[in-house]
Amino acid sequence: MAVRETVAFDLEKIDRLIEEEEAELEPKHRASIEYRKTAARYVAGGVASSWQDSPPHAIFVDHGQGNRLFDIDGNEYIDFHLGYGAMVVGHAHPKIAEAIERAARRGTHFAQPTRDLDVIGENLADRFRLPLWRFCNSGTEATLEAGRLMRATTGRDVLIKIEGTYHGHHDSLMFSVVPDPGKIGPREHPVTLPQAPGIPQAFADLVRVIPFNDLVEARRAFEENVGRVAGLIIEPAMMNCGLIMPEPGYLQGLKDLCHEHGAYLAFDEVKTGATIAYGGAVEVFGVVPDIVCLAKAIGGGTPCGAIGATEELYRPVVAGEYDMAGTFNGNPLTMAASRAALTEVLTKDAYATFDAVDAKMKEGLRAVIEEHHLPAYVTGVGAKGSVIYAEKPVREYRDSIGVDERITYLAWLFQQNRGVFKSPWTKQETWTLSVWHTEADAQRYIDNFAEFATAVTS
Ligand SMILES: Cc1ncc(COP(=O)(O)O)c(C=O)c1O
Repeated sequence: MAVRETVAFDLEKIDRLIEEEEAELEPKHRASIEYRKTAARYVAGGVASSWQDSPPHAIFVDHGQGNRLFDIDGNEYIDFHLGYGAMVVGHAHPKIAEAIERAARRGTHFAQPTRDLDVIGENLADRFRLPLWRFCNSGTEATLEAGRLMRATTGRDVLIKIEGTYHGHHDSLMFSVVPDPGKIGPREHPVTLPQAPGIPQAFADLVRVIPFNDLVEARRAFEENVGRVAGLIIEPAMMNCGLIMPEPGYLQGLKDLCHEHGAYLAFDEVKTGATIAYGGAVEVFGVVPDIVCLAKAIGGGTPCGAIGATEELYRPVVAGEYDMAGTFNGNPLTMAASRAALTEVLTKDAYATFDAVDAKMKEGLRAVIEEHHLPAYVTGVGAKGSVIYAEKPVREYRDSIGVDERITYLAWLFQQNRGVFKSPWTKQETWTLSVWHTEADAQRYIDNFAEFATAVTS
């Protein structure tokens, strides 16, 4: 393979450009900045979730329509953030809005099952090749149940997770999400680091962390914990650390390893499910795990979650020995939106559209990277993609540590100042496409990226 010549990023120039772009952005968001002060009188930090606040300031949204987002200052953006990837159906999709409206007029909550269950269950079983499903209200709840199901069925306590992945904010798995490079320990024995204060060490002692894309280290973790591991949970393509694809054979190797040790394999498809393909990572990588956790895209923009698993894993739930419960599980508004999203909007044809726009994005971005000799590359599949600011492919969290966040922040500022809304700017985020995104939208993203590339290299 020919060696590509690249020019290293000039971080001093990047700092200067950041100052210029921030100065340009601030006056556009005066109403957001002011409103936040009002909200902060009674709401901690003036935002609903800590991750709605990222530098330079929180941006308050007025409304969305299709592929467009409008903030309270009246700025219009093409939305590639899409609510952290949940809105692949786009904003205010008429089919989803009608479904929610119809359901709302018939009662918004019963805590009793309704007649959407079979259609949604069948659709998910078809997509993800697992026979039984339950519903919840978030990705956090889905992975919490996955961990507990694996522990319940095996009678073992240890879970294995991948360094640099996020599975939600519960205490069983909120470890080594974006761990401090100074504290992570050796690669063959990463330290299990809580991502938030208040998570007991006793919980950390039950979680073994391993690097992504490495079957040797996975085997080591099992062999050092013989008879103790309930299961391994993994984002089949890592999406909270740039976007890292699994290497051929890795996921199947993990499944074999889990089963060899009497443990289970859970895919956290909260981000990949119903976005990278009709059947998510199960379809793209051709491996069916024992559990699939879903949320985000499957709810058409409502608070949602789902857990798919084998009959063996669901046996205690079906037998009434394990309460998988929640007041709002199967809420009629969520079910109505989910049914419309899965059966009427995210049809197989929608994925052909994602693939076409994705191809355009990748081709255009790659051309810019080549032309400007950027030490970067483009990766992604279906509705998800990312530019990674590294010369060599990032295979695991530790490879991404060298990516300077000032570069991704500047790239974010360039998009934001030029009408493209991207997810918060750390090196962890990807772009998402909706069914409303066109090749013209992709071109806008590419043109902004070209301006960024020119600015950093000129
Ligand atoms: C891979 C993954 N799993 C789980 C979650 C948690 O989902 P939620 O925020 O709906 O609780 C997220 C959220 O970003 C995620 O990216």
